[in-house]
Amino acid sequence: MKKIAIFASGTGSNTRKILEYSTANPGSFTVALIVTNKPIAGVLDIAAEYGVPTCIIEKEEFFRGHHYLPELKDAEIDLIVLAGFLWKIPQALIDHYRNRIINIHPALLPKFGGKGMYGDHVHNVVLEEGEKESGITIHFVDEHYDHGDVIFQARCEVMPGETAESLAQKIHQLEHEWFPKIIEKVVKEEKLH
Ligand code: GAR
Repeated sequence: MKKIAIFASGTGSNTRKILEYSTANPGSFTVALIVTNKPIAGVLDIAAEYGVPTCIIEKEEFFRGHHYLPELKDAEIDLIVLAGFLWKIPQALIDHYRNRIINIHPALLPKFGGKGMYGDHVHNVVLEEGEKESGITIHFVDEHYDHGDVIFQARCEVMPGETAESLAQKIHQLEHEWFPKIIEKVVKEEKLH
């Protein structure tokens, strides 16, 4: 059974779906740690509901070079899952967890990625550019924003009259459907050591 850490700063709807999935489909992975930079984040309530330990990280410490590696090692984490985590991952973590950090992005990379591209910002740009489709990308994390190898993509149509809100809803549906299954696939297929 692989142990995953979820890094999340938002409402945590993906975190909830991952926990629901691992509870309903035990065997391949368990959520051993939830890491957040926002003490008020919805993920903390979800963590408490599921009895998952949490780690609250501080911006100053994080950017001064505290990479929280000891906390991750103590929890024996095999895979780090970024589910709405917006800070750049420090090099020390990338080096230690090379090919063992995955991220979900709410668009079809390589388009609409990079610094500042998160949440509704992404959907607004997709709409401004007149895209006919959008979707989700699940990828390995390397030292560049939204850049590592793509593991999985799923698509949805952008309809006439689509708003950032309606698109966000479609994207969240795709994320909730696919992210837990892809995490399971990664922990089963990857040689996570
Ligand atoms: C998700 O839509 C995820 O793709 C996005 O944050 C949202 C978190 O939602 N991540 C990014 O934009 C990263 N660039 P949640 O808190 O409801 O899981």
